[in-house]
Amino acid sequence: MSSQIICVAQQKGGAGKTTLVSNLAIAYLAEGKRVGLLDTDPQGSLGKWLDIREEALGEDDNLRFATATAYGISRALRGVGDVADVILVDTPPKADSDIRQVLREADLVLIPVSASQADVWATHDVLDLADRVGTPTHIVMNRTRTGTRVGEDVAKSVAGLEAKPLQATLANRVVYAEALGRGLGVMEAKRSAAATDEVRALAKEVSGLLGL
Ligand SMILES: Nc1ncnc2c1ncn2[C@@H]1O[C@H](COP(=O)(O)OP(=O)(O)O)[C@@H](O)[C@H]1O
Ligand SMILES: [Mg+2]
Repeated sequence: MSSQIICVAQQKGGAGKTTLVSNLAIAYLAEGKRVGLLDTDPQGSLGKWLDIREEALGEDDNLRFATATAYGISRALRGVGDVADVILVDTPPKADSDIRQVLREADLVLIPVSASQADVWATHDVLDLADRVGTPTHIVMNRTRTGTRVGEDVAKSVAGLEAKPLQATLANRVVYAEALGRGLGVMEAKRSAAATDEVRALAKEVSGLLGL
């Protein structure tokens, strides 16, 4: 299996895991890459997003999907890996032994932190687990609000973490929620050039880290 595996993990719910996975998937698809999606979250938001997408747009041979529980992760990754250049793994809001295996198999772990200190506090367990299995990890600042006190405070706390934040950040924009509900990436929702630019920049920075 030669695909690169990106795991998006964060113990806190609502931080932007599914948003990151769905938008990176669409960005890589648009570049002509074959994308595998693996949903390990029993809430199934990513699968729901894909259902809505396929109802509207039909199936795409370059976008494969599987679900898996902790014990089925290696097998599911192998299954999707044969037909994908990059695999994006969505995870539940947990940091326990269930996600250890997927962190171990990943080439890169992304941890979204939305503009709240609670998100920063919630990074520690995933950082610790990823460190133990030796997988490189980066923070992705999500829902940023420039010029706010909370934004500055969160950025300061993130700077003190052992994982570096990526340069690319995603701002707080309604189009992210709209696109998710419509089975789209923000690049396709065509309502916000700014959101498109920031997702492209994120995808490019992540590709650079993986040599994709
Ligand atoms: N940058 C953003 N701007 C606006 N809304 C966002 C942003 N990122 C995520 N959201 C919204 O916040 C909610 C939670 O995001 P989601 O990706 O589902 O988090 P998680 O998968 O970590 O639980 C969703 O409704 C999503 O559309
Ligand atoms: Mg989710």
